[in-house]
Amino acid sequence: MGLLEGKKGLILNIANDRSIAAYIGDHAVKQGASVGIGFLPMGNLEKSQRRAGKAMEEHGFGGAWMHPCDVGSDESIAAFFAAAKEKFGTIDFLVHSLAFADYNYLKTDEGVFTSTPREVFRQALDISAYSLIALARAALPMMPEGGSIVGLTYLGSERVVPGYNIMGVAKAALESSARYLAYDLGRKKVRVNTISAGPIKTLAASAVGELDEMFAHMEKKAPLHRNINADEVGKTAVYLLSDLSSGVTGENIYVDAGFNTVGL
Ligand SMILES: NC(=O)c1ccc[n+]([C@@H]2O[C@H](COP(=O)([O-])OP(=O)(O)OC[C@H]3O[C@@H](n4cnc5c(N)ncnc54)[C@H](O)[C@@H]3O)[C@@H](O)[C@H]2O)c1
Repeated sequence: MGLLEGKKGLILNIANDRSIAAYIGDHAVKQGASVGIGFLPMGNLEKSQRRAGKAMEEHGFGGAWMHPCDVGSDESIAAFFAAAKEKFGTIDFLVHSLAFADYNYLKTDEGVFTSTPREVFRQALDISAYSLIALARAALPMMPEGGSIVGLTYLGSERVVPGYNIMGVAKAALESSARYLAYDLGRKKVRVNTISAGPIKTLAASAVGELDEMFAHMEKKAPLHRNINADEVGKTAVYLLSDLSSGVTGENIYVDAGFNTVGL
């Protein structure tokens, strides 16, 4: 029997077959879960839907329920959860695997971080961090028996990773929000945790400056002397979404080949 047998959950968002969300969906379904998927309607709705649908097929859960969701819009979040409620009734888990910051401010050049405009800060924090609170609030009525919420973060929240810049600030807010949500929702038996993943080649990651250097540095310095893959994030997500982690909340788990533990 799978670790998520009989459980239902929502995973936001899949952009393409490389999306970490697609790997989490893959592993959740393999462990017996029914999943509903979010995708961002970018310009052409059908095109975004087709790309996410193709990714789901490639990951072995083609045909699963999917619906557009732009977390920058309260109306879009409400429409997503209204449709999800109609489809699933109740859910057992929610995955927040999405982020955005203007790539012009994710460069390693001197002075770029200092030049971050107010609007770029606001948008990065809104889309990448506030959205966890908004999605948790929307999901709560669908979790009458409690549940598990997981968000995706990166070490750039705690340490300076050149080029990660404003996204690091947003991830610090995301991690802190996860802890406050864990405290706020604990009596409702809703657990909230984050996974801090090492660098993985995805659409979002390609916006960050000098990604290849990060991969090379990981191989050289991480205790496992290699990079991680999205499959490994998917497996840890299953642990956090399942009853195996029933006593764990407000935590951040590193899936980074141990890199965060190394000082030099
Ligand atoms: N790839 C990495 O190296 C890495 C490492 C650690 C953490 N993460 C985190 O993992 C999560 C998933 O990213 P990914 O690497 O799979 O890249 P991705 O580009 O596949 O996923 C990012 C998702 O965010 C969505 N998104 C952007 N703006 C949105 C909005 N306004 N409303 C709703 N969705 C929106 C995109 O549509 C996309 O589906 C992100 O939180 C990212 O920061 C990634």
